[in-house]
Amino acid sequence: MMMILIPYLIALLFINSIVAEVTITPVPSASLTFNQNIVPSAGLPSNQYLVVENQLPLAEQTHELVKVEDIVLISQLSNSVLVKVQVDKYGVAQQVAGFQIANPNSNLHGLALSTNYPGMVWLTLEADNKLVLIDPMVVSVTDAPEVIMEIDVPSPGYGPHYIGEYGSDLWVSLKESYDVLRINYEDPTDYNIYNGLEHPIFVAQHPINEMFYSSQDTSSKIMKINPVTGESTQIDVNASAGTTPVGMISGPNGIWFTLLGSDTAGTGTFGFIDQDDNIEYYKLTTPLGSDAALLHLKFDVAYETNYKLYLLSSSIINPTALDMIIIVTFDEQWSTIINEEVIVIPTQQCKAHRLLPTEFNVFATELSSSKLLTMFSL
Ligand SMILES: *[C@@H]1O[C@H](CO)[C@@H](O)[C@H](O)[C@H]1NC(C)=O
Repeated sequence: MMMILIPYLIALLFINSIVAEVTITPVPSASLTFNQNIVPSAGLPSNQYLVVENQLPLAEQTHELVKVEDIVLISQLSNSVLVKVQVDKYGVAQQVAGFQIANPNSNLHGLALSTNYPGMVWLTLEADNKLVLIDPMVVSVTDAPEVIMEIDVPSPGYGPHYIGEYGSDLWVSLKESYDVLRINYEDPTDYNIYNGLEHPIFVAQHPINEMFYSSQDTSSKIMKINPVTGESTQIDVNASAGTTPVGMISGPNGIWFTLLGSDTAGTGTFGFIDQDDNIEYYKLTTPLGSDAALLHLKFDVAYETNYKLYLLSSSIINPTALDMIIIVTFDEQWSTIINEEVIVIPTQQCKAHRLLPTEFNVFATELSSSKLLTMFSL
């Protein structure tokens, strides 16, 4: 593996030293000291979780996150800064540094771990219409990440948002041109653009039928793509259940997605798509959960044995919605919810954005308050 990979990476580095356009430079003002506020969660039903909100360099919009070794990488879209946060076992920040990715208007957004290049990270530059593979240089928080590969989104596609690596392909939602892109990163002339509706946000592959699905928020529909035939179809979200599919991930037995609701109301509902495209809707029943505005979701790293799913309720479009992490436990068949726990995020109106569970904690980004929350129990 290494015998093959190393010469390949060296070759790529050499090529990119000639053609690279995306520059990465430290942001001096983004290396900061921070106050740690350990707040026992105000949630229901108990105080068994501790919540720490790690302060990040200030930005209007803090978005996605991935973790490589003990470094969490976080995208700040509004100034196109990538933040590196060195964390302890429970996700409490030890050191923070920020890096300008391309220029302040490049709109850094999507982040994904590479499988083919272990330890490397894909990112999207929404305004520059580029997909970039970086080495995050996790040996030190202050080392600037390095560009390994750059891929231009083919025209007329525009606005790469989510990115995910599936074999030799990247699947990317193109939020601004309302498309989904499949592109081979080893040969970027090999690609398909699938036309969707306003706005594709996430893309996920079904674990059983292997089709790709994309949540389209404003149109409240789900696009299904058959990459073998090139066919795409639209699936309605039942308006009686809720509206605005956003978070969408592959999970046990199918695709799981959240419904955010409207700018005035959430419905505390998430959905499951089986291998034949039957959709099952789950409505939360706790007092705070039942009208939650569900933006994102992730399964516990040990979901195969503990059947836990994390849901994120967000004030992103509805200022009256509570920002919360909701832990749902299913039965062993993944068909019935047997427990629901609500943890209210200490900073409300933070437009909570993405979740990332690890073995010892759950991270959440706070879009408008420039914070990386960690929730854990001792
Ligand atoms: C939508 O949900 C309602 C209420 O559960 C149900 O009566 C109706 O049949 C559903 N519509 C479709 C198209 O599935």
